[in-house]
Amino acid sequence: MTTKESNDWKTELLALPGDGGTVTGMWPLLKSQDGIPLKIDDLGVVTMEVGMGNGLQFHLLMDQGVVLRELQYKHLHLAYWETPYYKETIASFLKGIAPKGLTVMDVGCGDGRFTEQLIDLGFDRIVATDIDVRPLRELAKHAEIHGFRDKLLLIQCSADSIPIKQNSIDVALSIGVLYYLIDRFEAGLQHVANLVTPGGIVIDSEPDLEGALLKALLFEDLSDYIRVFQEHTFNETCKGDKTRFRLFSPDELHSHYRAAGFDVLDRHGLSIFPSIFRIAMVRGEISEDRLAEKEKEIKEIFDYLNRTGGIYKHIIWKLQKR
Ligand SMILES: C[S@@+](CC[C@H](N)C(=O)[O-])C[C@H]1O[C@@H](n2cnc3c(N)ncnc32)[C@H](O)[C@@H]1O
Repeated sequence: MTTKESNDWKTELLALPGDGGTVTGMWPLLKSQDGIPLKIDDLGVVTMEVGMGNGLQFHLLMDQGVVLRELQYKHLHLAYWETPYYKETIASFLKGIAPKGLTVMDVGCGDGRFTEQLIDLGFDRIVATDIDVRPLRELAKHAEIHGFRDKLLLIQCSADSIPIKQNSIDVALSIGVLYYLIDRFEAGLQHVANLVTPGGIVIDSEPDLEGALLKALLFEDLSDYIRVFQEHTFNETCKGDKTRFRLFSPDELHSHYRAAGFDVLDRHGLSIFPSIFRIAMVRGEISEDRLAEKEKEIKEIFDYLNRTGGIYKHIIWKLQKR
């Protein structure tokens, strides 16, 4: 059951972007300093105006938006292979942080596979945001059913315009999100840095140049392979539609993180091989039956690559705000 106290922390945390104006009123009847009501939908999701950038346009092609929490249980889906490696890395990067009393954030959470991990790790004040309201609403329903809805402040907003107070977040995740901002990547990273308290931890996962080169060579053509390298952009495909996003070499990311005010504490590469298997399966180059038959052997190889592989789809970075 939602109590007044259970929503007070949410009201206190909210601040409108731009002048950072505080929010007043009693949840869910909140308004800005200028008296403009905040929009909070029937499931308690705060909804802000979001522009139609390429990131949103790409995700709107998907029937329900990104529902990787659900898809992690779909046999042989990419999320089925990869989610345990992401979770293992997130858990190891958060080891030693006592969750009680901390405010944490999951930027671009989708339907919240890692938001739920934060709950499982014991965090109880979680801001979960996404530009696409559909998966946020799924997360709201899931959280209600599983009894952790009070622990979530759900906000539809872009990652470069999150309506909460500066220096208020102790730990933030952004797993596979900021690169969708393309030209606003640097602005988005700086915005997230501004929301995090000095000494706070950010875990950021971004696509890696070398993995994108391998995928372009295998599944696009030589021109694209060269274009990936020269432009540092790559194709993501949904229902046959290709959209081009930016990516970075590890050295470039390092510079961006430092410029935004972070020290890099650690990093872990996620092997490109599960993606290659997934694409080959979707294209019919490896049959699903054959993959299922050899699942145990393939998993052993993926485990090995997760420990010692060197060509990455994404690199997960552990950052600390200076
Ligand atoms: C690859 S999914 C990752 C979802 C989630 N972090 C996970 O790993 O399960 C990328 C997510 O970023 C969201 N997204 C795309 N552009 C965004 C933006 N500008 N601001 C916030 N979220 C964005 C998408 O709607 C999608 O849910």
